[in-house]
Amino acid sequence: MLTSADTTIKLSPDPPTLGSPAVSDQAKSFKVLLIEDNVIDAQLLRAALAANGKGPAEEPIFYLESASTLAGGLKRLAQKDIDVVLLDLSLPDSQGLETVAAARAQSPNVPIIVMTGLDDEAVAVSTLRQGAQDYLVKGHADRRTLIRAIRHAIERKRAQEALRESEEKFRSIVETTNEWIWSIDLRGELTYSNPAVRVILGYRPEELLGRCWALLMHESDRQLLLTRLAEAVIQKTGWSGLVMRWKHKNGTYRHLESNALPILDSNGNLLGYRGSDRDITEQEQAKQERRQLQLRLVTLQEEERHRLSRELHDQMGQSLAALMLGLKSMENADPSQHAGGLRLHHLHELANQLAQQVHTVAMDLRPTALDDLGLETALSNYLEEWSERSRIPADLHSAGLGERLPTHIETTVYRIVQEALTNVHKHSNARNVSVIVEFRDNRLQAIIEDNGSGFDTEALISAPVKDRRLGLLGMQERIALVGGSLNIESTPGFGTTLFVRIPASGSDQEAAHLCTSYASS
Ligand SMILES: Nc1ncnc2c1ncn2[C@@H]1O[C@H](COP(=O)(O)OP(=O)(O)OP(=O)(O)O)[C@@H](O)[C@H]1O
Ligand SMILES: [Mg+2]
Repeated sequence: MLTSADTTIKLSPDPPTLGSPAVSDQAKSFKVLLIEDNVIDAQLLRAALAANGKGPAEEPIFYLESASTLAGGLKRLAQKDIDVVLLDLSLPDSQGLETVAAARAQSPNVPIIVMTGLDDEAVAVSTLRQGAQDYLVKGHADRRTLIRAIRHAIERKRAQEALRESEEKFRSIVETTNEWIWSIDLRGELTYSNPAVRVILGYRPEELLGRCWALLMHESDRQLLLTRLAEAVIQKTGWSGLVMRWKHKNGTYRHLESNALPILDSNGNLLGYRGSDRDITEQEQAKQERRQLQLRLVTLQEEERHRLSRELHDQMGQSLAALMLGLKSMENADPSQHAGGLRLHHLHELANQLAQQVHTVAMDLRPTALDDLGLETALSNYLEEWSERSRIPADLHSAGLGERLPTHIETTVYRIVQEALTNVHKHSNARNVSVIVEFRDNRLQAIIEDNGSGFDTEALISAPVKDRRLGLLGMQERIALVGGSLNIESTPGFGTTLFVRIPASGSDQEAAHLCTSYASS
């Protein structure tokens, strides 16, 4: 049999020197190493690759080198400047799949195109699994097929390399991040979990694979998850910022904030979800502690106001009443002393005014009616007094307030109305105010509406917190503490309406409990 010798065939006028870097980066030129012992096959290939001047001007130029044994080929490959290998599977020193394995081991980054005879095509297909990029049947590859195969092999190899690099980068991020990265199938079973879950939930990833996701969740949060999941599945969307409690292996609960995207196949069918969860347990605990602290402060403030109010009423109020009576009796006892009588009368009036002022301050601090008679009476008294003081007519419509509400709700609503009416008086020039307070469906709603000057709510909200006044901020805080919401509608020139909603159940009961426990502590 004729065998080809190890040669370098120059198929271009200016070939690069041996050992120079691979030429594929220069304009469309490739260094091809043909490892083939059959001289005729080698010549055919060489002829096919040689530029014949008939192709388009941008056709690539090939610098073909050949080796007749695997050992010779590997030696040449070791110089690391070959762009692509054309590899015969049966060489004098190696046969079949081993040949590919050896070439791959020598230069894993160089694409290999296997050259096969018609009868060993099945073996050639297996070489693809071994890492060969393509195979060509000898004698059936014309110039165009060969060029296309070489280009594709190089491009595919590069794409694979780029993908591998990016996957490696991605994996190193996924495996070192503190966030739990996971994927689930449509049954909710975990199909992937990164190692971070060990720190977050105490499990090794393998312990969780195939387990249903929802079972690790706090029972009270399961329904929320199932509802959100059902919505997401129908709409084929993901979710973001979903906070749920997960059971750690040690039995404690962790708060995780979850973000996820749907996994869709090429036809848009939903296959599952992929996402990441962040452990926010510490932040949640800090938030709750802050909330408890605020509740405690508000409760203490109310208690202090209560004490001051009673003191003003019981001590100062009594003393002033006694003073007034004394002055009155002196005034009546000696009416002949005209000048002195006038002075006494004046002093009596002054004491009267003082008593009124003390009463108003005491009422503002903590109206006894709020504790003794309930929200409706306390509001009604307050509105009457406020109207007299501000000279702005005010009506109160109330419904469902027959039963006493939890103290923290009554106090919150009272303080909100108080602050809202103070604002109306201070800022609005309103001609009328209406206050509606209703308790229905376990929810309290209050609406405070004036027909005054109104204001630009957007400008107020976007102002930095440090520049904002305390009234509206305080209202928001108070309402948030009892799990309620405040909406303000105001248009300059058209008045202002405040909408307050406070649920009297659920998370709020917790607040109520905290309030009562603090109040009684
Ligand atoms: N009913 C209203 N009508 C018109 N403007 C209002 C009304 N309520 C609030 N505002 C505007 O909103 C601003 C913020 O009100 P907020 O109660 O927060 O602060 P303040 O009343 O100015 O000061 P304070 O901290 O003493 O309450 C007011 O300065 C005023 O310009
Ligand atoms: Mg104010």
